[in-house]
Amino acid sequence: MRDFLIAPSLLSADFARLADEIRDVTAAGADWIHLDVMDNHYVPNLTVGPLVCAAIRPHTSVPIDVHLMTMPVDALVTSFAEAGANTISFHPEASLHVHRTIELIKKSGARVGLALNPATPLSVLDHVIERLDVILVMSVNPGFGGQAFIPETLDKLRTLREWVDATVERTGRPLQIEVDGGVKASNIAQIAQAGADVFVAGSAVFGAQDYALAIRAMRDELEQVGEATELTAALDLMR
Ligand code: DX5
Ligand code: ZN
Repeated sequence: MRDFLIAPSLLSADFARLADEIRDVTAAGADWIHLDVMDNHYVPNLTVGPLVCAAIRPHTSVPIDVHLMTMPVDALVTSFAEAGANTISFHPEASLHVHRTIELIKKSGARVGLALNPATPLSVLDHVIERLDVILVMSVNPGFGGQAFIPETLDKLRTLREWVDATVERTGRPLQIEVDGGVKASNIAQIAQAGADVFVAGSAVFGAQDYALAIRAMRDELEQVGEATELTAALDLMR
């Protein structure tokens, strides 16, 4: 059975109480903390830099998952790694030399992710997929929280799942599929069935009164997907 992880996105947190929000969401069961870095250039919004990543690092024990929506990318890699980022993902459109940026992230000691916009084809993974730790599939156009999940993402995930399984079998290295945008308890099962391992959720967690309850609701849905998958696998073996 696949391990499902939930990564609340700080974009929907109360930035005036960031340390409290991080402690609360960690206590509520977050597996990773997703940090959206926007530069008002690659995306039409502006958020935070390495300074804030370093400031929040002591307030959680879980990995910090940095999602760079910046252009250029390379200059920020080392600063985020030094600020305590565990994973650093970037968009291939934002880097002139995708392979070089991947290697730069690996050299910094962080895990590396490639982020694919809704209209970015899976073919950008050609020649680099074996070097990645995470593929971040955007299910909204990047820039804002609270947008609706784009349904075409499900087909993309199904195709990618097959590709990732084949890659993992060949390399023996773990490779996760992460989904970002419009994820909530009501659609998380469908997204998991399509192939995702890691679920970023901003408004669905930080918009809830009780973060633990919001995360629990998502996990309950995921558990059912896990059980159904195990049952199908067992039936396949009996055939
Ligand atoms: C969008 C960001 C997301 C955002 C998701 O550009 O990358 O991480 O916070 O927010 P929700 O879960 O509200 O769609
Ligand atoms: Zn994000």
